Amino acid sequence: MTTGYTIDSPVKNKFNAASTQLFAFGYQKIAKKAFFAMKPDVAHASMVDFCRGAGKVTPLMWLLRQMIDYTDPILETTVMGVPFNNPFGLTAGLDKDCDLPACLNAAGFGFETVGSTTSRPCPGNPRPWFHRLPQYHSMVVHAGLANDGSEKVIRRAEKAWTSCDEMRMSVSLARTNDKLCGDLDEGIEDYCTSLRRAVGRTDIIEINVSCPNTMAGEPFTDDPNNLDRLFTALDAIDRPQPMLVKMPLNKSWEEFAELLDVLADHNVQGVSLANLQKDRTGLDVPDDWKGGLSGMPCQKSSDELVARVYREYGDRFVIAGIGGVFTAEDAYRKIRNGASIVQFVSSLMYLGPQNITSIKRGVADLLRLDGFSNVSEAVGVDA
Ligand SMILES: Cc1cc2nc3c(=O)[nH]c(=O)nc-3n(C[C@H](O)[C@H](O)[C@H](O)COP(=O)(O)O)c2cc1C
Repeated sequence: MTTGYTIDSPVKNKFNAASTQLFAFGYQKIAKKAFFAMKPDVAHASMVDFCRGAGKVTPLMWLLRQMIDYTDPILETTVMGVPFNNPFGLTAGLDKDCDLPACLNAAGFGFETVGSTTSRPCPGNPRPWFHRLPQYHSMVVHAGLANDGSEKVIRRAEKAWTSCDEMRMSVSLARTNDKLCGDLDEGIEDYCTSLRRAVGRTDIIEINVSCPNTMAGEPFTDDPNNLDRLFTALDAIDRPQPMLVKMPLNKSWEEFAELLDVLADHNVQGVSLANLQKDRTGLDVPDDWKGGLSGMPCQKSSDELVARVYREYGDRFVIAGIGGVFTAEDAYRKIRNGASIVQFVSSLMYLGPQNITSIKRGVADLLRLDGFSNVSEAVGVDA
């Protein structure tokens, strides 16, 4: 399956290590300084604009691949029937409208999650959407699912799916967050509309039932009966793709297990653990900064949740581990705790896009050190 820039000689390997370090240096000294000089909302929009433009320049994408892509057979894995060059991907939220696939594909991401996207185009919450918390390597996120709507976003995702040869595409579907939001049945139909649009047009579908920043709240995780009604409706839509469900981080285990028991009775292949951190205990965050926290504040709870879900539901659900993945050690811990694939976003903002390469190289080394011949063998060994 390996078709990219394979590390098949010591010379290439050394070149890749050096060029990745050069890229990291450039990000820290130039790009990050420029982005962090802007307000976070402006920086996010500028980064997306830049990547959308850069992605159309084929020689630039070629150069990016030569500089930072690292391909290693020990990372190749098939999860939920989907073959991945590596199990590391962008989590939902950064690429809401599907502008980044060309850059992420060239950088060597195993997959990306586009969205979350909603049945109607959605303006999102009033600005600001983002605040930085550099001391915690975290962002306060209050975007409220702003996106162009699933009709457009899924069309773009399908195009990327057919043109990005090596990266797998997942689309995250959420409920529209606008003034037309109605009762529970309206919410269920909203998800169904987007799912009908997504059928057969990506590798994976992720259903986001845990956005902490919407006017309708979280009715599908507050009451297991509501979750059951939603997935009964989604089950009725035939689809070839596997489905992940993006879960909340801040439930008691008893509440969480009730939700998993419901999902276990439906056509759901995996769970994405987890969404943003709502608990600000011990953290110095201004009260008027509304939203959930990304990055480091998610790490410990997410690690524990991955291990517990693997222990108690390992045979039933594939786990996508998300939350506070900054280093290869962080990613490897998620895998050893039970994650078959790993997603991240905050580390890209704080450390740079070449962090995908550092994580891939580092995890490959750790796997070899521990005597594994493939990443799939390490899944859940510590759970
Ligand atoms: C800017 C930003 C936007 C996000 N938007 C979404 C979203 O639309 N849907 C979703 O399921 N999660 C969203 N999230 C949550 C992330 O997918 C992820 O669960 C969380 O940030 C923890 O991962 P991290 O520690 O790597 O940031 C967002 C996170 C960030 C930082």
